[in-house]
Order: sequence, then C-alpha cells, then structure tokens
Amino acid sequence: MKKDFEDIILTYKGEKSDLIPILQDIQSKYGYLPEEMMKKVSQFTGISPSEVYGVATFYSQFRFKPTGRKHILVCKGTACHVSGANQIIEGIERHLGIKEGEITFDMEYSLESVGCLGCCALAPCAMVNQDIKSNLTLKDVKSLFSKRKKDN
Ligand code: FES
Repeated sequence: MKKDFEDIILTYKGEKSDLIPILQDIQSKYGYLPEEMMKKVSQFTGISPSEVYGVATFYSQFRFKPTGRKHILVCKGTACHVSGANQIIEGIERHLGIKEGEITFDMEYSLESVGCLGCCALAPCAMVNQDIKSNLTLKDVKSLFSKRKKDN
C-alpha cells in the first residue's frame, strides 16, 4: 500500500484542496477508502485524521468497506420506489444470498441502494459498476447476476 500511496500523491502538493481529489483517486484504485490510506492522507496533507474522516463521510460518493467486483447500486428514488425498487432489492438479496450493504462470499457482488441515479424515466433502475440497467424486473435479476456455487 505504501507504493500505491506514493503513486497516487505524485501529482499533489499536499495542500488542503488536494484532499477530495486524493480520496477519489484512492477510491478509484481500491473501490473504497482503506483506513490505512486515510491516515496517510492525513499525514500528507497535514489535515487531522478526524477532519479527513469527516470530509469523507460527508460525501456519499465515498465508501469505507470493500465492494464486490460488480457493485450493484439499486435506485430507491421516488420514481424507482413506486416502480418496485424494494421488490428488486429483495429479489437480488434472495438470488445472491446477501443483504443490502453486504458482499457475496466470492467477492463477486456487493449490494447498496442510492437516492436517484438520474434516469427516472427508465425506472426501476440500478447501476452495476458504471452500467445502468433500466426497466428492471424480477426476471432480469436472475439473468443479470449469475451466481457461483459455494463448493466450486
Ligand atoms: S428515481 Fe430512480 S433514477 Fe431517479
């Protein structure tokens, strides 16, 4: 992680304004903000660990737990909610055997919900990594998310 951090901060001077871009770079490398990296950011920028953590938790874009290789964000905004977002989430939970906020045993999938993905006309929708999946039905859940067997 030390080398990774050095690579990330190469283009930064360690100024206060570097905080969010550095956190974004870390998240794009790891998929979340590892605690060890947050401490390094604090040392590099001179911003206290509690302030670094405070800024990171303020923005919903930052995550503090690892995600699966395929991170599923199901929209729970108004349009998606009235179009069955909760049933979609329950369907994914049943199909993958995880609850919202969890990750599958093989690290393939993680599941979260969000406020609005900005494509309300296509409700209900979800995002898998950067791909929008629209007009979702329970049938789609099985075909979109293939499961691996535990004893493989
Ligand atoms: S409410 Fe789901 S995309 Fe806007």
